[in-house]
Amino acid sequence: MRLANKIALITGGGRGIGAGIARRMAQEGADVILVSRTMAELVKQEEWIRNNTSADVLVLEGDVSSPADVNRTVDAAIAKFGRIDILVNCAGVSLAHPSVDLPFEDWKRVLNINLDGTFLYCQAVGKTMIERGQGGKIINITSLVSHAAIPQRAAYAASKGGVKQLTQNFALEWAPYNIQVNSISPGFIVTEIVRDFIAKGIHKPEKMIARIPAGRMGEVEDIAGPAVFLASSDSDYVTGTTLIVDGGFLTNGYV
Ligand SMILES: NC(=O)c1ccc[n+]([C@@H]2O[C@H](COP(=O)([O-])OP(=O)(O)OC[C@H]3O[C@@H](n4cnc5c(N)ncnc54)[C@H](O)[C@@H]3O)[C@@H](O)[C@H]2O)c1
Repeated sequence: MRLANKIALITGGGRGIGAGIARRMAQEGADVILVSRTMAELVKQEEWIRNNTSADVLVLEGDVSSPADVNRTVDAAIAKFGRIDILVNCAGVSLAHPSVDLPFEDWKRVLNINLDGTFLYCQAVGKTMIERGQGGKIINITSLVSHAAIPQRAAYAASKGGVKQLTQNFALEWAPYNIQVNSISPGFIVTEIVRDFIAKGIHKPEKMIARIPAGRMGEVEDIAGPAVFLASSDSDYVTGTTLIVDGGFLTNGYV
C-alpha cells in the first residue's frame, strides 16, 4: 500500500475524477476526507469506501470558493485526524460560452470556484503542513486548457491556466518545507461534465477520439494512478510540474 498511514483531503471528492482519486487513495491505505457541495454524492462515496477498503472516511459539505467553508472543513479534518498529509484540489466547474458575450457573473463564478477555491485550500492546508514540519503533498487538477486553447472556454481556460501557475508559485515557496506541489492536466475523461457536454453537442466524441493517439477517452482510473504517484514518496523530488494525462492529445500535431 503506497499511502499507508496518510491522511488525504480531496475536494470535489463526491463524484467524477475526485471520487476516483479518493477511492484509489483509500485502496492504497490513506484515510480520506471528501469535500463537495452535495451531501448526497458524498454519502455514496463514503459508503463505497467503507464497503471496499479499510480506510476511515469523513465527508464534509462545503463550497470551495467560500473562505469560511474552507476553514471549517480543514478544521474539521484536523479535529478528526490530527493532520492532513495530502491535499487534492479537484472541485471545479466548466463552462462553454462565446467570449464575445460571456456574462461577467459567469466569468467570476468559474474563476471563484476553480482558481480562488484552489488558492484557499492550498493556503489553509499548506499552513498546517508548514506548522507541523513533516512536509506534504498538494495536487491541483488543471486541464488541457492550461496548455492550449479550446473555443468558448475563456473563463475555464483563465482559471485553469491560473491554477497551473499558482501550483508553481506554491511549489517554489514551500519546497524548503518539503511540501511538493504539482498538478495533473487530464485530457477528456468520461464524467458527468463531459457526458453533459456531449449531450448538448458541445463535445463531439468521434472528433475528440480521432485526435487522441490512445484511441479512446480517459476514465477516472487513468487519473487516479498518477495522483497516487504524486501523493507518494516516489515523487519526493518532483515539484512545480504538471503531469499531462491525455492519451497523447496535446502531443498530436497531425489531425
Ligand atoms: N472530466 C474531464 O474531462 C476533465 C478534464 C480536465 C480537467 N477536469 C477537471 O477535473 C475536476 C473534476 O472534474 P469532473 O469531470 O470529475 O467533474 P464533476 O462535475 O463530475 O465533479 C466535480 C466535483 O466538484 C464539486 N464541486 C463543484 N463546485 C464546487 C464548489 N463550489 N465547492 C465544492 N465542490 C464543488 C462537485 O460537487 C463534484 O463533486 C474539475 O476541476 C475539472 O475542471 C476534468
